[in-house]
Amino acid sequence: MNYTEGMLREGSLKGKNILITGGGTGLGRAMGEYFLELGANLIITSRKLEVLEQTAQEMMNNTGGKVIPLVCDVRDMAQVEAMWAQCIATFGQIHGVLNNAAGNFISPTERLSANAFNTVLDIVLKGTSQVTLTAGKHWIAAKQPGVFLNIVTTYAWTGSGYVVPSAAAKAGVLAMTRSLAVEWAKYGIRSNAIAPGPFPTEGAWSRLLPGELVKKFDPAKKVPVGRVGVYQELANLAAYLISDFSAYINGDVITIDGGEWLKGAGEFNNLEMVPQEMWDMMEASRGKKP
Ligand code: HXC
Ligand code: NAP
Repeated sequence: MNYTEGMLREGSLKGKNILITGGGTGLGRAMGEYFLELGANLIITSRKLEVLEQTAQEMMNNTGGKVIPLVCDVRDMAQVEAMWAQCIATFGQIHGVLNNAAGNFISPTERLSANAFNTVLDIVLKGTSQVTLTAGKHWIAAKQPGVFLNIVTTYAWTGSGYVVPSAAAKAGVLAMTRSLAVEWAKYGIRSNAIAPGPFPTEGAWSRLLPGELVKKFDPAKKVPVGRVGVYQELANLAAYLISDFSAYINGDVITIDGGEWLKGAGEFNNLEMVPQEMWDMMEASRGKKP
């Protein structure tokens, strides 16, 4: 058994109804597929009905669980509230929310229009806050427990050039995660986040490594364990954090990046480029034999 296989035991999410924003593609879809395999029912939302419907059908064919596709642009509070009402009408209760929808692209910041900057802020920070507020208010009023799992990035705390709107927005989502973990714990509502390193998806790669960039930058080279992420290992972590097995984890962000961000942060980590012979020479010059 290894990280390419499902980790939790069968039925771990049985009876759970889980909302996944951006659940029709990429990582949202991958996490959803595993939740479904573990017995959950899903609502998957995004802006594109066709994509959602196709994904929902494929998911149900593969696992036999129930998947409801709903259009919802998370930037629009009226759509969020209508979507939530539909979730409750369909399932009666939602047990977990995976805030996964995002928008992003690379650009020197000084080239961005105000609308470009705001578009990413609106999807990532405003979108997540609107879904969170809607679900949280409902859970509190209905005296129901709930769990939020928010997908951020490691540059939520390091910051990063060329994706500044995304970095600012994800930092906000992380602050919201930690704040509500404390404020809403008394209502039985937990909040956690996952910060994935590079997991190749069409959505992210087409926007972050467009054109020739994909040939110039191999994301795996920045990762100490020497590879990009595999969807199942992210899905394993997400399933655990959205399940009751993680009942005592609240307000945390779990990084799953093979050590990538720390490699960039450690002052002397680039000394891995020094060949053994050079270390030998340096050792010899200190008066020791190699
Ligand atoms: C500069 C850009 C731009 C770009 C759009 N804009 N793309 N500016 N460089 N590459 C500008 C537009 O000119 C416009 O400004 C404004 O942004 C809004 O653009 P629209 O195309 O009208 O927006 P919209 O249709 O709402 O699409 C949103 C989007 C798009 C974010 C631009 O890429 C999208 O739909 N993304 C969703 C999926 C996604 O991004 N997935 C990747 C997540 S990856 P003006 O001023 O001209 O009106 C991720 C990974 C993080 O987050 C970490 C990885 C390790
Ligand atoms: P993706 O496939 O592009 O996923 C983004 C999803 O968000 C899409 O399904 C998109 O669907 C939806 N979305 C975008 N704007 C929306 C809006 N306004 N309202 C509702 N839904 C919207 O990319 P991904 O790589 O799987 O990313 C998923 C999450 O992982 C994101 O939070 C991203 O920041 C995070 N992440 C990814 C990586 C990586 O390496 N892939 C690394 C770190 C973090 P529609 O276009 O149909 O709306």
